[in-house]
Amino acid sequence: MCGIVGYAGGSQAAPIILDALEKLEYRGYDSAGIAVARGGALTVKKSKGRLKVLRGLTDDGASINGTTGIGHTRWATHGEPSDVNSHPHLSLSGKIAVVHNGIIENYIELRRFLTSHGYSFVTETDTEVISQMIDFFYAGDSLSAVRNAVRHFEGSYAIGILFADEPDKIIAVCKDSPLIVGIGDGENFIASDVTAILKHTRRIFRMCEQEIAVIERSNIDVYNAYGERIEKEPIFVTWDANAAEKGGYEHFMIKEIVEQPDVIRKTASPRIKNGQVELGLKNITDDDIRSFNKIYIVGCGSAYHVGKVGRQIIERFANIPVTVELASEFRYDNPFVDSSTLTIVISQSGETMDTLYALKEARKRGSRVISIVNVVGSTIASESEDVVYTWAGPEIAVATTKAYTAQLIVLYLTALYFGQVRACASQADIDSAIKQIERLPEVVGELIESREQVQYLASLYFNSKDIFFIGRNIDYALALEGSLKLKEISYIHSEAYAAGELKHGTISLIEDGTLVIALCTYAPLRDKMISNIREVKARGAVVIALARCGDTAVAEAADHVIYMPEWEQLTMPSLTIVPLQLFAYYVASLKGCDIDKPRNLAKSVTVE
Ligand code: AGP
Repeated sequence: MCGIVGYAGGSQAAPIILDALEKLEYRGYDSAGIAVARGGALTVKKSKGRLKVLRGLTDDGASINGTTGIGHTRWATHGEPSDVNSHPHLSLSGKIAVVHNGIIENYIELRRFLTSHGYSFVTETDTEVISQMIDFFYAGDSLSAVRNAVRHFEGSYAIGILFADEPDKIIAVCKDSPLIVGIGDGENFIASDVTAILKHTRRIFRMCEQEIAVIERSNIDVYNAYGERIEKEPIFVTWDANAAEKGGYEHFMIKEIVEQPDVIRKTASPRIKNGQVELGLKNITDDDIRSFNKIYIVGCGSAYHVGKVGRQIIERFANIPVTVELASEFRYDNPFVDSSTLTIVISQSGETMDTLYALKEARKRGSRVISIVNVVGSTIASESEDVVYTWAGPEIAVATTKAYTAQLIVLYLTALYFGQVRACASQADIDSAIKQIERLPEVVGELIESREQVQYLASLYFNSKDIFFIGRNIDYALALEGSLKLKEISYIHSEAYAAGELKHGTISLIEDGTLVIALCTYAPLRDKMISNIREVKARGAVVIALARCGDTAVAEAADHVIYMPEWEQLTMPSLTIVPLQLFAYYVASLKGCDIDKPRNLAKSVTVE
């Protein structure tokens, strides 16, 4: 996600801001920029690429004079990574500069409003409406202009604002996106997280929703939503810098698991309007969607696994056959693909070579292509006719979690949208699905909060030599992902099997003490799963079962049971995946593995 910093003090702002932005590089970014106020003017420098490009543009900050400024590292959501789309963004007057972390979900409506009032836009970003809306309300009082403007923003935002006419102050405001204020000695700061400013101060306070802060060199005023000045109690941060980069978590992986509720919300809510789903496709039309007679889903690793979950859901709602293929196989499989085929390409990084070549093969054969990608402007995104982004923010841990979860959400939404367009899903079913998706952040959050049972089970079995994951139907697709998570970070041999398939050979591997994780959340085949649990237990296996709330029959058959909350089948995969991610994490953690950077693995496999 984006990084924000701001400085108001007695020193030159630009070098301090550049150093602070470097401490936020771990968050992932594709461009960076800085704005400094001095003598009634704003100096803005920004560029696509790494911070060293910005350092080169500003002579390491020396070429920009001024003691009050803001800076930004951008993780693109709306608008490709480019110089012009980088932050800070200026108002039409050039007198207001803003940096923003989050998504203004109603930015299209606000662009329309501002255009009707004579404003024009130079970027593709949602952020530019912020500077323009503040400008619209600005008549010499910066605080009032900001207060009036934010009332019209929907979505999430942490914003730092500079005014040329009030060059000694920064105004900061946030909603559903973190922002802290750092209290220095004769200097004050804003930052997305404490990492950026630990070098200067450990006294901070966190902005709360709808609060507005006015930060000057020797004074900080904070106002609540009613305009009343309020006192904020600062805290003293004891973290070391490295811990701070992970937001206090020991590993990026657990941080990213914990972020999943927010990722679900950010990925889903901008695409659900008035009870209907909107994917925002630009080139593939509704008529195209009605014309498709088959869908391929291609990806690698976890992207392939999530595709196997998506298949079931898209077939159910869109009434169209879906084939899921490993991208590396699809290319050489002579797939039956033509202009009536839609190929959905899934990739977190958007750079996986196998997946990219599968995409090219599909297009070469006439297929239409939609990609589901996390990195805006990545190669796979650029080579697709349409891309539906998973707004998971940068995923640092090699083992994907939040991006997988976001891909799942996009697949649900795709199924619903196709069902709407092809008129083969009832509005009641669509309404029910939307309600589930809207409640997912809360229930996934509860599952993550109550993770001690999974942690305990990991402590019992982290020395296992072999671990089998079994499931049927959609639980088999989830078993594939659970097994991959475990083996890629704990190095324990693991296999996922369709539970009905075990007896056709692999069951010979089950012996006394072999750990089997049995997924029993797919209700229609739960009785079959109980038989499979008995089958492996008869050969000495120890079984951890994932079962629906209150399913005592599964609990009696297994040695341990992890209950899922009572939930609808359609979006149950978003719940079932959580204990599987956590189990892998705690097993690897107990084994002392390098969780975020497992041996032999890369976050993006850009070779065949
Ligand atoms: C998943 O945890 C792995 N990191 C790996 O299987 C990954 O899903 C695969 O390499 C595909 O990567 P992509 O989503 O970036 O294309």
